[in-house]
Amino acid sequence: MNIDPKEFSRRQFFKTTGAAAAGGSLLVPLAGCRGPEKTTTLATVATAAAATPVFAQHTDELKIALIGCGGRGTGACSQALNTEGPIKLIAMADVFRDRMDSALNTLKDEVAKHNKPERVDVPEENKFIGFDAYKKAIALADVVILATPPGFRPMQFEEAVNQGKNIFMEKPVAVDAPGVRKVLAAAKIAKEKNLKVGVGLQRHHQTGYIESLKRLHDGAIGDIVATRAYWNGNTPWCHTRAELEKQYGRKLTEMEYQMRNWYYFVWICGDHIVEQHIHNLDVINWIKGGHPVKARGNGGCETRKGPDYGEIFDHHVVEFEYPDGSVCFSQCRHQQGCWNEVAEYAIGTKGKAHFTDGSWRITGPQKWSSKTQTDKYQQEHDDLFAAIRNNTPYNEAEYGAHSTMTSIFGRMSTYSGKQLDWDEAIASNIETMPKVLAWDAETPTKPGPNGLYQLPVPGQTVTV
Ligand SMILES: NC(=O)c1ccc[n+]([C@@H]2O[C@H](COP(=O)([O-])OP(=O)(O)OC[C@H]3O[C@@H](n4cnc5c(N)ncnc54)[C@H](O)[C@@H]3O)[C@@H](O)[C@H]2O)c1
Repeated sequence: MNIDPKEFSRRQFFKTTGAAAAGGSLLVPLAGCRGPEKTTTLATVATAAAATPVFAQHTDELKIALIGCGGRGTGACSQALNTEGPIKLIAMADVFRDRMDSALNTLKDEVAKHNKPERVDVPEENKFIGFDAYKKAIALADVVILATPPGFRPMQFEEAVNQGKNIFMEKPVAVDAPGVRKVLAAAKIAKEKNLKVGVGLQRHHQTGYIESLKRLHDGAIGDIVATRAYWNGNTPWCHTRAELEKQYGRKLTEMEYQMRNWYYFVWICGDHIVEQHIHNLDVINWIKGGHPVKARGNGGCETRKGPDYGEIFDHHVVEFEYPDGSVCFSQCRHQQGCWNEVAEYAIGTKGKAHFTDGSWRITGPQKWSSKTQTDKYQQEHDDLFAAIRNNTPYNEAEYGAHSTMTSIFGRMSTYSGKQLDWDEAIASNIETMPKVLAWDAETPTKPGPNGLYQLPVPGQTVTV
């Protein structure tokens, strides 16, 4: 769970963003503001003031609460604190105090490097620990960052929307169909309440993807008849029970063990097809302008076996069928020593496209390529906070929920071995979250006498 250094921006504070600059017509500078993105028409100001319950002023200080103080939460908070205008981290919530302390230290160092130490100010009474901690932290904030593992996202998103807060939430936004439906319902309310919602599918904020997708949608490769999506890589971090018990000097309850080694448990993580491959499937949905209607999958666990690897597969292969009959061939794998690629491909009647996170190539009569790297994590926050301050519509929750459901749909097909329809999959009432969240509560899955967890069995496991 090291923090990806790329997730921390080294840019100056007060950077002008393209998205923000595009936000209003450039007539009247607002008091206390600098730069073109902080100018707007008086009419826009009046409308914003009337429509937004939370902010009427670009100069208002935005109070941030961070929920889930791990690697990505720390990164996302750092990027939020690096957006333009007065802003401060004032509250934090986590289930583990050690994770919160470490995030707070990192964030203090980050803002100190930028000569803005006042941007992190979390008094002891604003540090909340436990499964319910999020509610108290959300109550204190204007903008909340939801960066726990994804199993908890639906309940936390719903709470933040109910409390009328602007939200950045990490992907995936759920791990099962009831969770997706909860997010979709809350997303609708968020829109009605004029709340701004960003989702951590950062490819939507990368110039290479934005330009490529525009070209594809303008017909650069003709009709798109097939797509491919890959997240084939190695096993990510794993915290073994033995390591954890040595580190904490005591036996862990099953709940604490699963929470600390969350990647390997479906109710917290969703499996890697949901946790990682969502990025590629989200790009395919973006290309196709919607979600697939059928899924046919194969999967299993061939090489990553053992008591600390929980209940998830190490490979999934899915054919997703879209409403126009075109198919996306998708693979994701966590196996050492194999062919690796993280990419998306599109095959059209007039050309082809190949995208990776750093290279975008279109071949055929309208060929085009780019390797322009932008700071995608910073950009997604610049865009969200510009929308909050300018009161422009911003709600990524719906496509975030559909891309999440696409990856869950794939998992449902690999676990069951069945061909599934989207409508029945999204209507599924199979809920993974335990009824009680407490350190001594029952976990949805438990190790057998040999220490191993039961894996899904295609042909037998029921997923809808
Ligand atoms: N967009 C991206 O590129 C990207 C990159 C990395 C991670 N992520 C996503 O960010 C999320 C977090 O991943 P991470 O790598 O930071 O994991 P992490 O384990 O480093 O951090 C998760 C934190 O949440 C805390 N937590 C767990 N359950 C909680 C609860 N119920 N209430 C409050 N706190 C809770 C944990 O104690 C931990 O501090 C995941 O959804 C992951 O998929 C996105």
